Amino acid sequence: MSQSRPLVIHDPREMREWVRSVQSQGQRVGVVPTMGALHAGHLSLARAAREQCDRCVTTIFVNPTQFAPTDDLAKYPRTLEADLDQLASVQCDVAFVPTVEAMYGPSFSTYVDPPKVAEPLEGSFRPGHFRGVCTVVLKLLNIVPADVAVFGAKDYQQAMVVRHMVRDLAVGTRIDVRPTIREPDGLAMSSRNTYLSADERTRALALSQALLACVSAAEQGECNRERLEAAMHRVLAPACDSIDYAVVVDADSLECRDVVESESVALIAARIGSTRLIDNRVFRVATR
Ligand code: PAJ
Repeated sequence: MSQSRPLVIHDPREMREWVRSVQSQGQRVGVVPTMGALHAGHLSLARAAREQCDRCVTTIFVNPTQFAPTDDLAKYPRTLEADLDQLASVQCDVAFVPTVEAMYGPSFSTYVDPPKVAEPLEGSFRPGHFRGVCTVVLKLLNIVPADVAVFGAKDYQQAMVVRHMVRDLAVGTRIDVRPTIREPDGLAMSSRNTYLSADERTRALALSQALLACVSAAEQGECNRERLEAAMHRVLAPACDSIDYAVVVDADSLECRDVVESESVALIAARIGSTRLIDNRVFRVATR
């Protein structure tokens, strides 16, 4: 089994030619869009792409348009050499690593207006975030016109936003969403976990534990949304420095229902120290 590093392509035109050329030989291409600082969660997506396709492209681009001026763009971890080593272990063929100038030239002015599902939750706490995500994902899928693009359920709303955008704008790439990979103690893997001090790392466990509290209440038959959300807040409050949201919504529409009956998702965004973490779990209330 080859363990060689992927070919690194910086130029969008060269990238598109590579995809066209392998597709013209009848090969299927899978793409995994990332911002780098790769961990086992990202690698699981690359493996999933490789399972379904002959070739795998991972894009590594810290996208400035999805960060607010107060966000962590400047300090976002950039670990390209280590990323390329990790991609070698999952047989990723190409790492597409464009420059900011190549993606957003001086005259760049076209943005995607995100779908409705982008409005609540992250959309309300991070105005403009999904406009940046949609714009860069559409652009990446134009540069890498893959057969399949693989996203993580870790960013549940983002995956839904991308699905809706791809459907609404008739993008030819199929969207595949894969489960969240967690540390052994339950913390969802995230590039931002590297910001956490030892004490914050311990407190960060509250997110996954709060979700489990919600899911286990639902397993006991609790279907009252307020009580499910209160179960999460009880776990989060002592550990978090602030809570943006800890809610239960319909898994398809992301709308609130007072009585939780359909497939639902519990979603949390909270700050531990100055680090904003998100996590979620999909569940169904047990019926007796
Ligand atoms: P990034 O945060 O690097 O995540 C890249 C992909 O990895 C996303 O689809 C995300 O959901 C997935 N991912 C992150 N942590 C994961 C985990 N623990 N388990 C499984 N999958 C995980 O999301 C982005 O980058 C950007 O917004 C991007 C889509 C690349 C656009 O810039």
